[in-house]
Amino acid sequence: MKILLASHNAHKAAEVADILAGTGLEVVNLSDFPEITELGEDHDTFTANALQKAREAHAATGLLVVADDSGIEVDALNGAPGVHSKRFSEQATAEANNTLLLEKLDSVTNRTARFRCVIAVVGDGLECIAAGSCEGTIALERTGEGGFGYDPLFLPDEAPGRSMAELSAAEKNAISHRGRAFEQLPELLKNLKTAT
Ligand code: IMP
Repeated sequence: MKILLASHNAHKAAEVADILAGTGLEVVNLSDFPEITELGEDHDTFTANALQKAREAHAATGLLVVADDSGIEVDALNGAPGVHSKRFSEQATAEANNTLLLEKLDSVTNRTARFRCVIAVVGDGLECIAAGSCEGTIALERTGEGGFGYDPLFLPDEAPGRSMAELSAAEKNAISHRGRAFEQLPELLKNLKTAT
């Protein structure tokens, strides 16, 4: 089965390709569709944003589409940056986002946080979703060179003593929010439900 991954984020696309390797799914990406320059994410939940991206990409291509929306929720910031993770700082770069997060948590002792990911599958007359999360804490400083985004500051509970950016790609995918959401995709596609 062929499915379009509706994301312009090359890091995400590489992770998803690894997660779905061996499932028999043929994943194509937006590089084959240069006319799709942007996908909307105008909502305040991961689910609504993932559905919006998948619906727009399906409308533009007619293909079966999977899109994800993801981000980091920090308890001491009442769940921020959440759906605004990509554009947390004015500059909207990973470097500036991480600097701002460290500033906001200066002197804060409760540093618990989680990554969340919701995937939405949209095809002709069908829509379904799945979710994954990864619990951890925000470090006092960046470590590691791997991954992307907030990975250098995120210490997953399941990898004691290491940041997400210090894990191999396989280690990250095994515990990450994205790994946990996308690993459900083959089963979801088997049980496609007709949208109401
Ligand atoms: P979106 O899902 O494209 O709207 O953006 C998600 C944003 O959340 C990214 O730009 C990152 O800042 C952050 N994010 C999502 N997943 C990860 C991850 O696996 N590691 C680090 N940061 C992430």
